Order: sequence, then C-alpha cells, then structure tokens
Amino acid sequence: MSAPPVGAVGREHPRLEGRDKVTGAARYAVEYPVDDVTYGWAVPAAATRGRVSRIDTAPALAVPGVLDVLHHGNAPRLAPGVDDTLFLLQEPTVHYRGEFVAVVVAETLEAAREGARLVRIDYDTEAHSTVLSAHHPGLYRPDKVNPGYPADTAEGDFDAAFAAAEVQLDATYRTPAYHNNPMEPHATTAHWRDGRLLVHDSTQGATPVQATLAPLFGLPPEAVRVIAEHVGGGFGSKGAPKAPVVLAALAARQVGRPVRLALTRQQLFGPIGYRTPTIQRVRLGADADGRIAAVCHDAISQTSKVHEFAEQTAVYTRSMYAGRHRRTTHRLVRLDVPTPFWMRAPGECPGAYALESALDELATACGVDPVELRVRNDATVDPDSGQPFSSRNLVACLREGARRFDWADRDPTPGVRRLGRWLIGTGVAGSSYPARSRAAAAAATAAPDGTFEVRVNATDIGTGARTALWQLAADALAVPADRVAIGVGDSDLPPAPVAGGSMGTASWGWAVIRTCEQLRQRLRDTAVPAEGLTVEVSTADEVRAQRPLARYAYGAHFVQVRVDADTGEVRVDRMLGMFAVGRVVNPTTARSQLIGGMTMGLSMALHEEGLLDERYGDWVNHDLATYHISGCADVERIEAYWLPEEDPDLNPAGVKGIGEIGIVGSAAAVANAVHHATGVRVRDLPVRLDKLLDRLPAD
Ligand code: MOS
Repeated sequence: MSAPPVGAVGREHPRLEGRDKVTGAARYAVEYPVDDVTYGWAVPAAATRGRVSRIDTAPALAVPGVLDVLHHGNAPRLAPGVDDTLFLLQEPTVHYRGEFVAVVVAETLEAAREGARLVRIDYDTEAHSTVLSAHHPGLYRPDKVNPGYPADTAEGDFDAAFAAAEVQLDATYRTPAYHNNPMEPHATTAHWRDGRLLVHDSTQGATPVQATLAPLFGLPPEAVRVIAEHVGGGFGSKGAPKAPVVLAALAARQVGRPVRLALTRQQLFGPIGYRTPTIQRVRLGADADGRIAAVCHDAISQTSKVHEFAEQTAVYTRSMYAGRHRRTTHRLVRLDVPTPFWMRAPGECPGAYALESALDELATACGVDPVELRVRNDATVDPDSGQPFSSRNLVACLREGARRFDWADRDPTPGVRRLGRWLIGTGVAGSSYPARSRAAAAAATAAPDGTFEVRVNATDIGTGARTALWQLAADALAVPADRVAIGVGDSDLPPAPVAGGSMGTASWGWAVIRTCEQLRQRLRDTAVPAEGLTVEVSTADEVRAQRPLARYAYGAHFVQVRVDADTGEVRVDRMLGMFAVGRVVNPTTARSQLIGGMTMGLSMALHEEGLLDERYGDWVNHDLATYHISGCADVERIEAYWLPEEDPDLNPAGVKGIGEIGIVGSAAAVANAVHHATGVRVRDLPVRLDKLLDRLPAD
C-alpha cells in the first residue's frame, strides 16, 4: 500500500491559516467569543523601588461598570517559589517602575481603563539604581549564563598571546536596551469552571504556560488548559508566561467571571522583559595576515533584583572563529529594573555585533579583505568543545554571498565613494546560531476515509510552523498533503517545547515524523477501524541519545549603505543574506523568517534604542512613535538565499532552525558598511546621525 513520497517538503506553500488571518476568522487570545466576559486593566507602579503604603480603590469602584480592583491586599493567593516574576499582587513591594500592582476589572474595556486611571496609590520609596555601567559596584560573576553555559571560559594563555601578537585590537562596543514589540501584545482570556482554569493566551508555548500556572495556582497540571491557536508574534518575549496570564487568572477567580486582559503598547516596554543593554570589550591578537592567535570577549549586562537573567552575550565568540588562546567572561549587575528577557537570538545577536565589528576592524588594521579574513579564521573543530561540527558551511556562505553581491570589485578604502551627496559603502559579517532539538510528543490518527489528523502542541507565532509541520507530516505519511490536517497550539495536545531557540520545527517535526512513520507502519498490517487508528510517540529517548557534535547554522550578511555627507543620514540600499540552515521545509515562510531577522538587525543598527531616565528608572521612549522600529521600506532591496545542505546528524526533518540566524551579525554588517562609507567607526549602537556628523569626510 505504500505510495511514493509526494514531496511536500521543500515546496513553496502559503500559510495554511493565511486566509483565516486576512479575513479575520483567525482568533487571537482576546478575540474568542466568551459569555459573560469582563475586562481587566493592569495598573503599573509609579515608583521605582519601595512599597505600596496605601491604596484607595474607592474612586475606581465608583466608575459605572467597574466590578473590582485587585491588589496585594485582596487578590487570591499564589504559591511562592514558582516564578518570582509572576508572584504578582501578593506583596506591597515594588521592584521596578511599571511593575503591575493592581488590576481593575469591569464590564467594559473603557470602564476598566477609566478605573485604572483613578486608583490612588501611595508609595514609600527608596533610592534606586537603574543604569548599567562598567564600573558599577554591584558587578558580579553569575554561576551560569543562559541556557546553562559556564559564565567564563579560558583555553591557552590569552594574555601572553595577545601581548605577543603583531596586530592587536582592543575595542569596546555598547548596545542599548531593545524592546520586543510583537503586533499582538501580551494578552489573555481566562475562565474558571468547576475548579479548572482555561486560558487563551498569547504565548510561544502552551505547555510551559500550563506547567507554570498549575503550581502557581496550586492545581494539578490537568486542571489547567492553555490554548494558543494563533499568536501575533513573540520574538522571545512570549517564550515564558508573563504578567497578563497571571493577572487575568487572578481576576477571573476573584470576580467569578471570564476576564480578558491585554497589555497596552506602552506596557510592553518593561514588564514583559527586554534585551539587556551590553558593554562588550573585545580583544583580538593576530599576525600581519589577520590570523587570530588570541581572542577575548568580556561582556557586561544587567539583571533585576527579582530574578537572575544572565544573557550569554560572549558565547558566540566561543565557537565562531579559530584562535588557540581564548577567554570569555560574563558579568552582571542587579538593578531596580524589570527582568531582561529573550529577544531574537538573545546573546548571539549582541555578541555577534561586537565580534563581527571587531573582525572588521582587524581586517582594516591588517589590510586584509574582511571576507578573506573570516575565511582565514575558519575553525575545523569547535574551538570551545573540541567537538567536530555536524556540518559547517560558513566559508561557503561567505564565498557564495560575496559572489552574488559582486564583492570582488570592492575597493577597501573607507570614505572615498561618492554618488552626489551620498557616501557609499559595503560591509560584511558572519553569522551562526546553535541548531538544537528538544524532546516533543505528537499524535496522529488515520481515518477510514484515507485522511489523517496530526496533533502536536507546537505554537505558530507567525513563522509558518503549522504549515511546515503539515508538509513534514504529509511526506512522512507518504500521502498527498491535502489528506492531512494539523492541529497545534493547545496544551491538551501531546506536550511539546516552546517556539524558541530556533528549535521549534526541529523538535516538533521530529515528533511528527516519528509518529507518522509509526502510524504508516501500523497501517501496513491493520485496516483502519471505524473510530480511526491513533498512535502517539515521544522523542524523549531519541533526542537524549544524540551524538555529541557541535551543531550550528551559519550565514553571511552583505550590506550596502549610503550616508548623506552633510547630514549623516544613513540609508540601506541592499541587504543580502546567504545561509546554510540544513533543509528548508517551506521556502516561502523560510525566506520571510530570514529577511525578517535581517531587517530586525538593521533596526538594531540604526533605529532601536531604549532610553532610560535615571531619575525615574523608566524608559522615556515607550511607544512606537518614539521607539523606532524598521519597516520594510527601510531597506530598498533585500535578498535571502540558502545553500543546499544535507546534514544527517541533526534530526529527522534535517532542519537547523531559521527563526534567529537572520538577525545574528546583521547589525554588524550595517555598521561595517557605514564605516566603509564614511571612515567612521561607531561602537555604540544605534548608528545615529549625530554620532557621524562631525566626523564625516570633507569633499
Ligand atoms: Mo527566541 S528569543 O529563542 O523565542
């Protein structure tokens, strides 16, 4: 009965849910029709550090339609020790400005909002510290950095090798706080029924939300159901449960009715986390040909006093390029700020900005082409672990990207190409991101009519994951894809990890493929009964038994910019990304992931910057009018390509993950192009025109 494979994998396909999304039929977290629903509005603290000394809810309760005001004095109790960032409305303590200290619940959104404005809160305040600096007295070394790496590493003798090097580069790079702004804010609808909690949540993973809410509310896991059918973006910020889901569940329990609660755009700037600012010192010691003998990357970032979040900023440097003598360190400061959190390629992205900028500076110092310099410093085994690579096509990406970009004709001299009033320059950067997989489970049912249903608690946050899994399922079942239905985004489905770490398709796809293979096997000797034939498979044992190899996706970014010689205005003419990411399941959505990441890197290079006012310990630019995020129009021509790459040592889908690699190195390529255009090296992002103005070459 075995049909030849139909080959859905590798074909262009629009998102399965695309029509539902553009017609409005797709439901997001606060769009499900719910009887008797009420609306919650979160009230942020107007103090930076201290405690709520008095709270007067009477004016809010007087607003027609307001049902209740929850705060630490009256909210249902949560279990301590589950997640300190979610231990909300339990204590009068204020850990940072903007921390949610009350929730108003009302019959209408408007009444809830008006009520929130009228809640009167007094605070006892204490002196706060909210600004990261390289000389902060609170600097310390964390035990580990995310997601479990050692804080510091050392091989060989960096100091001696650096001192002896013919060419020495010592530069410090800075990146500001960056704020995730998914189109759909963090939002939840929560209902309690017969002691069970049902939430429709905007999250990157229904399984972890269920796993956190259950102990937090003192429930067994099966008493919590989390649905995340459609999610309007996350970029990491929805990779763990955040305040809205807890506040909505508390409020729904308190008022005995379903509650919808969505954060405002302004409320995304802080309480949901942000990319930590960084201060990164990179030292490179090389010979005159640019071969690196010594590399050191010292990274400083911040965390909060509520929870330690230790970003792995220097980890990129551990495995990217060769060099016998190497050292990396991470230091943190606990500030009176919201806890930083994941943002697309957390660690690798800011780390690559520093290292790939430093390589550009080294190339200039040695008079070596920056593509060639990277090729010369390619690693044959992972310099960090000593493990072989499952596949490493960095050099192929650099070479093929350079060919497509016409890099060969480039004049290396900075600040000499003019087109009218524009200074023209091009830049390159390398890129890599770990290719990981985690255990997942899936179920598949064959129906007597020859159709199939495949279920996995994957989350499609807008990436096209649902469609990719459907393609993988169809091929594993060896049936035409139109006979397969796919269900995702529900904690009642077999458990699966978050959409994060660029390991969604690898992990969920692994479970989907194994489940479909097993079902197909069963169908060889069993007729499908009337009620259908179902199998469920977990990949836990198989994933645990993976060979110890260094698995990474690679890429190379090529950018052309023009800089106004009078005003310093930077425009990006062209971005070209060349990637090696294993197998590409769906070229349509893969390309969108890659160019989305590249554009987000442009945004980081030129536009995004969280500006904190030390007096209040809060970000001043906390909306989309003042916090600038690049759009499609900010790059005139953008291309993403990938090499054919078959790597048998990854996972059954053969994928390396594409959600994050597009942003890694992208900002460095833009900044390197600005240097080539102008001769000005900006080492603190963003590259604003005021940092260029006085330093531009004269006519
Ligand atoms: Mo991504 S920042 O790993 O969700």
